[in-house]
Amino acid sequence: LAKVYRELSRFEEALNHQEARFDLHQDLFNQGTDLRIKTLQIAHDTEHVRQQAEILRLRTTELEALVRGRTHELEEYQLEAFQRLAVLAEFRDTDTGEHTIRVGDLSAEIAHELHEDSEWCEQLRMAARLHDIGKVSVPDAILLKPGPLTTEEFEIMKTHTTVGAQILSGSTYPLIQLGAIVALNHHERWDGTGYPSGLSGVNIPRCGRIVTVADVFDALTSERVYKRAWSQEEALDFIISARGHQFEPEVVDAFIAIILRRHPHLRAVVDAHSTMPARPHG
Ligand SMILES: [Fe+2]
Repeated sequence: LAKVYRELSRFEEALNHQEARFDLHQDLFNQGTDLRIKTLQIAHDTEHVRQQAEILRLRTTELEALVRGRTHELEEYQLEAFQRLAVLAEFRDTDTGEHTIRVGDLSAEIAHELHEDSEWCEQLRMAARLHDIGKVSVPDAILLKPGPLTTEEFEIMKTHTTVGAQILSGSTYPLIQLGAIVALNHHERWDGTGYPSGLSGVNIPRCGRIVTVADVFDALTSERVYKRAWSQEEALDFIISARGHQFEPEVVDAFIAIILRRHPHLRAVVDAHSTMPARPHG
């Protein structure tokens, strides 16, 4: 239209139309620019949200790693505190804690041999170390007496089972709970002649029936103020003799299997017993 008006020399109309055309172009240009800016803005916002999500993910991963690290530290700390408690249990006997460690390891090995739940076996490895913790209450005059104990002294010695259970009672920590059961029952005997409760057979918790074999074997083969160290042969012979009396037969059989794997030459000791007539179980 502007062109037609110009050709007709109607310059004012031509100018008006030309300006109207420019305004229209301007509007179209602005609308296009707005759209591009909006598209860019959305793209920018999307990218921003994506980056925020990535930062959050990294922070969460970082926090998770931190929490994992702290939990591990706490577990290590608990384990160390537990081990030091176990050493305390034996401190006056040998001051090294080696007996408790060996009893724990042998108990776990017997439990594995008996196909007990493997997590429980590993708990027993630690819990068994606390079996004598109640000895902290037994006077040195009795605990370290070189000769045999009088009846009265033996009664006091027996209390290390109940005192140990008391020390470890009321814990919410499964390891300590198991330790309390072990401390209370590791001197019970299969035939009911043990202490403190005189329980017999399967009435004795399994952990007690296992730890007693490991404890007696290790005590026999160790030197103490009141006795020399027995040889492996002598100690194995004693354990087999007490099978079905002091000790649960199945636990003794598992123990024998372990000892023979460690010391195949001890087979003769086992064979000597298998040729003997069967003993009545008490
Ligand atoms: Fe004991």
